[in-house]
Amino acid sequence: LRQQWLDRIKSAADPASIEEVRLAALGKKGEISLKMRELGKMTPEERQTKGRALNELRDEIDTALRARKAALEDAALETRLAEEWLDVTLPGRPRPQGTIHPISQVMDEIAAIFADMGFAVAEGPQVESDWYNFDALNIAPEHPARQEHDTFFMHRAEGDDRPPHVLRTHTSPVQIRAMEEHGTPIRVIAPGRTYRMDMDQTHTPMFHQLEGLAIDRDISMANLKWVLEEFYSAFFGTRVKTRFRASHFPFTEPSAEVDIQCSWEGGQLRVGEGDGWLEVTGSGMVHPHVLRSAGVDPDQWQGFAFGMGIDRLAMLKYGIPDLRAFFESDLRWLRHYGFAA
Ligand code: PHE
Repeated sequence: LRQQWLDRIKSAADPASIEEVRLAALGKKGEISLKMRELGKMTPEERQTKGRALNELRDEIDTALRARKAALEDAALETRLAEEWLDVTLPGRPRPQGTIHPISQVMDEIAAIFADMGFAVAEGPQVESDWYNFDALNIAPEHPARQEHDTFFMHRAEGDDRPPHVLRTHTSPVQIRAMEEHGTPIRVIAPGRTYRMDMDQTHTPMFHQLEGLAIDRDISMANLKWVLEEFYSAFFGTRVKTRFRASHFPFTEPSAEVDIQCSWEGGQLRVGEGDGWLEVTGSGMVHPHVLRSAGVDPDQWQGFAFGMGIDRLAMLKYGIPDLRAFFESDLRWLRHYGFAA
């Protein structure tokens, strides 16, 4: 009997079978329990010997059951440990990390240089009203400059009589907004996105401009020239000369197109040396009409404004031949120029 039970315990392979064996032996109706109940009908002598033997058997079975259960649990733990093994020496999988877009980097650089010259940063909306983008800047509805801007117009449903809006074609409307908001004197730059229907190697429908505005009691073109030369020299890390050519913008009078000195050596463009000139900026003294649009008295105040293409500057500084690549988000391109890890 003893051996039979011990064998059954040994062959129990999981907790459920062990419980089964336990019930069959030691449960209320288990074989051993029944046998112990029979002791009551026996003579005292019989009861003493058989009773002791049964007690011992019951304890032995109980011990064997517990031991078997513990062994099974150990084995289960061992297999789990073996299966859930983690190789801590395996090299980690690299996670791609984002970086600041080259244009944003250049904008930050530019803002830092102008900050040193006392210029704060101003902002305006990219969806701009006709008034701020054109009229306030002395560009009347019939003015030919409106056509030259290749403007994106916001669609208006029939019956919607809110004033017409456009995607701003330049950052110049921020001149008006900044003067309205902060009054005079004022010294601000306004970097931001601008839009024109244009697409080739050096034009994208969305591009970036930097506006500059300085209004005070006696600001002149000489101040403008100094500020621009300081800026370009700091930006390109070398002394840069500028050349002013007479030009025309509706919002400045007089107006000048500004070139920076450069050279072409073996197809390589270098800024700040040589006998070449590169057009980089539109500028001039802010037109009295523009000051008036912004509530500034032109008899009391005067100053300069300029506008430049940020993307062009980034192309020049990093030797990038195609503007469109800036906005294609091609990681190989970004890595090639060191803009992404
Ligand atoms: N807004 C002009 C442009 O987009 C640039 C400019 C700005 C010219 C300020 C003069 C003064 O071409």
